Amino acid sequence: MKKWTKIVLLLLVVTLVLSAVAFGAKYKKNPPWVIGFSQIGSESEWRTADTISIKDALSEDPNMSLVYADAQQKQENQIKALRSFIARKVDVIVFTALVETGYGPVLQEAQKAKIPVIMVDRDVAKEDQQYRLTIMGSNFLEEGRKAANWLADYLKKQGIDDGKKPVNIAELQGTVGSAPAIDRKKGFEEIMKGHPNWKITHSQTGNFTRAEGKPVMEAFLKADKDIQVLFAHNDDMALGAIQAIKEAGLKPGKDIIVVSMDGVKGIFEAIIAGEANCTVECNPLLGPQAVQAIYDYMEGKKLPAKIDTIEGIFDQTTAKEAFPTRQY
Ligand code: AHR
Repeated sequence: MKKWTKIVLLLLVVTLVLSAVAFGAKYKKNPPWVIGFSQIGSESEWRTADTISIKDALSEDPNMSLVYADAQQKQENQIKALRSFIARKVDVIVFTALVETGYGPVLQEAQKAKIPVIMVDRDVAKEDQQYRLTIMGSNFLEEGRKAANWLADYLKKQGIDDGKKPVNIAELQGTVGSAPAIDRKKGFEEIMKGHPNWKITHSQTGNFTRAEGKPVMEAFLKADKDIQVLFAHNDDMALGAIQAIKEAGLKPGKDIIVVSMDGVKGIFEAIIAGEANCTVECNPLLGPQAVQAIYDYMEGKKLPAKIDTIEGIFDQTTAKEAFPTRQY
């Protein structure tokens, strides 16, 4: 080998060693990292936006390689997917819990295998939170409070609530046992305590879907038309219910005040058309935050137990102006 060739080769080796050392110092593990993402399904417009945001952010990052699993609204599918991530030794698990309970054992298995679990959107039950690294997403309790506070203000401004006359509320709940269904109800009812004339006269799950929201609202209205407010745990169910209200010969947004959560484009259109009244924003665009959390973990930074997203509230006074800027 010629002298110059030897020098070039030596320089190359030194560069490679130095960059490996640099990488090793920067990250816990050398990239690319395999990320297992377990989503719950595709029940709503919100969920579609959430899935796209997370899948895009993970697959577009050059240091990450995504393994995706859709549980199709079945907890057993999700547990199976988590076990398969553990078996193939992924570097990080990103996971949304369909319901709060039932994940303890599989999360302990992940912890035993030293695989960090970063939760997005829906959390697990309190006793199992010790097995995950962090949760990012909305404060569902606060969303419930925001909806009820908006309602109190609106009823007062419209002169509908004198504090004595009953205000009958129909409630469309989200998936039974899920964090948003539990906490949105809790937050709303907390504020209701200050309004003794408000009463939830009907309450049933519509599973966060438009397809179930409609027949449940139909059944409520068949049983009794003395309903002043619909409180839906998400926009999709509210949109299904609006259809049912119209078919029952009533005017949604006027005869029945419609309050829901998420802030999807469909509900903005309904608010602008005067058929819905208020949506409390719940931001599904969690992909960039999930990627940031993975980098923070790999760089050895301490992650906060909960990463909150900042969210607004929209009604007939603000929806039209905000609509063109909506991303989901
Ligand atoms: O977990 C967030 C909730 O789940 C959203 O409000 C709903 O639309 C979704 O299906």
